[in-house]
Amino acid sequence: MSGEVNGLSTDDDSTWPELKLPELLYSDAVRQVHATIEKEWGFLQRSSCQIAAGRALWNHVIHDPLANLLAGESYLRNLHEKIKKDRLNNAREISGVVLAVRTLWFDSRLEEALNSVNGREAQVVLLGAGMDTRAYRLSCLKDSDVFEVDFPEVLQAKATLLQAAKESTYEHRQIMSKAKSLTRVAADIRENDWLEKLQTSGFLPEKSTVWILEGILYYLTQSQAMQVLTIIADKCTLTHTALLADFMNKPSTTLSNSIFDFYSDWPDHLLPSIGFTHVKLSQIGDPDAHFGLLNDPLNLFNKLRSVPRSLQTHPDDGTPCCRLYLVEASSSSDQKSA
Ligand SMILES: C[S@@+](CC[C@H](N)C(=O)[O-])C[C@H]1O[C@@H](n2cnc3c(N)ncnc32)[C@H](O)[C@@H]1O
Repeated sequence: MSGEVNGLSTDDDSTWPELKLPELLYSDAVRQVHATIEKEWGFLQRSSCQIAAGRALWNHVIHDPLANLLAGESYLRNLHEKIKKDRLNNAREISGVVLAVRTLWFDSRLEEALNSVNGREAQVVLLGAGMDTRAYRLSCLKDSDVFEVDFPEVLQAKATLLQAAKESTYEHRQIMSKAKSLTRVAADIRENDWLEKLQTSGFLPEKSTVWILEGILYYLTQSQAMQVLTIIADKCTLTHTALLADFMNKPSTTLSNSIFDFYSDWPDHLLPSIGFTHVKLSQIGDPDAHFGLLNDPLNLFNKLRSVPRSLQTHPDDGTPCCRLYLVEASSSSDQKSA
């Protein structure tokens, strides 16, 4: 195959080589964890491995050497097959491209937030952290206490997989946290005690904080998501608070078989209404949200960007306008930060 797909040169098949899995995936300890994930976990928890598979297979743009181990063989094989089919069909959007763009967007916005005057030494909280490895990947976290919040079984499986990697020769250097500290907090953010659990684990409410809500809000109901967002927004009056989050719009959650619930068509109106003062919204494909991966003007995301956001169906073909918004919000910089 040759040519250009979404800005990625496809002349070079090494971009998508045949799937080669690390030996460590076949060790007893690692096999056992992934067997449990497949047999016993629900879809919420399993979504963490799907996302890790995306980062593993887009490793020509995302450097996440632990992603293979955390994703597990079956998620890697599934996504690899989809990518193979997309390439054979000359698809305009290759499976996983949204995950790749989303990861790169969160990485870049996090780095910028931590480099800003208010962000220096800020704490970083990842709600629904799943198999995220930013604490191991990003040196911009060197002065930050990082908190990963997720269900206990997800955090336990992650810790066991990382420990197995530490005990092997596998990418040893990659298993050193780059963050000042890393604390895993087992909590269900639908319950009303997650903030208390975070505080018991060392989170300081009065200290500047960057909150990362990546791939999590739409798994919650409208009231659960609003409760989480309001708890975070309430911190705006206390200290410098930055929020990085992705939001689905209504058509994205109302497709048949959708497992998603919370949506917002106007997060740039919603967040100021609960206390954020600065909000910037990007759509996948925008200049700050394509990273050279979505150059074809006819791909789905670029076509959507020219349609007014108020429209729920595309005027050309009546298809639903399914959008994913990438949103950064913060409290006023003249408010006190600790
Ligand atoms: C799609 S994954 C995203 C993981 C991670 N943010 C990333 O981008 O790699 C969603 C994560 O949210 C977690 N999650 C979903 N509902 C949750 C809840 N109510 N409380 C805590 N974690 C939750 C899941 O276990 C899963 O790890």
